[in-house]
Amino acid sequence: MNKKGLLISVEGIDGSGKSLFSKNLYHTLKNKNDVILTKEPGGTKLGQKLRQILHEEKENVCDLSEFLLFASDRAQHFQEIIIPNLNSNKIIISDRMADSSLAYQGYGRKLNISMIKKVNEWAMQNIIPDITFYLEIDIKTALNRIIKRQETLTSFEKEKMKFWQHVLDGFDQIFKNRKDVIRLDATKNPDEILNQALTHLKNYI
Ligand code: TYD
Repeated sequence: MNKKGLLISVEGIDGSGKSLFSKNLYHTLKNKNDVILTKEPGGTKLGQKLRQILHEEKENVCDLSEFLLFASDRAQHFQEIIIPNLNSNKIIISDRMADSSLAYQGYGRKLNISMIKKVNEWAMQNIIPDITFYLEIDIKTALNRIIKRQETLTSFEKEKMKFWQHVLDGFDQIFKNRKDVIRLDATKNPDEILNQALTHLKNYI
């Protein structure tokens, strides 16, 4: 294993199966490695409170404030979890990280991308993930997974589809020329996705 630890982020739209993938990866790596599984938002005690605010106060939080709450969660996450664990040579798997803010708040809500990048860098103390797994999926499959057997989409869900399309285009744009990003086909079954990821990870651990 790398001496300085390894930071892995997992990204994708809602319904991409990112959380299940993160758990599967964690349980597999745990057999032979010192590894932790964490998440944004909500990887720390403060983060859990911020996540609750983000969920409960959706209507009362303006877009900029929403981003700053995610950034606050991220700053605490890095200070309390990411940096100490990297320093103890651990592998860290984080279910979402800075690229989610770029895709959701930047491309989805149209906030200033360069400001988001700057605040992210500040919150992360200039540390970036070594590897990002991106679970690629189309909107329809993702939404169908979420609403399951519902036959028609409500206007709220149609609205959501528009937003998600922007987020998806955002991820595509952000990851276009990034060598640290490994795209995984999220429409495959969980074992296949995991095996694809493990093949790539052989170069790192
Ligand atoms: P949550 O229920 O915590 O987890 P999940 O990732 O499993 O959906 O929801 C997090 C939501 O917050 C999700 O819709 C993505 C969004 N998000 C942002 O908009 N910006 C961010 O920076 C992060 C980390 C998440």
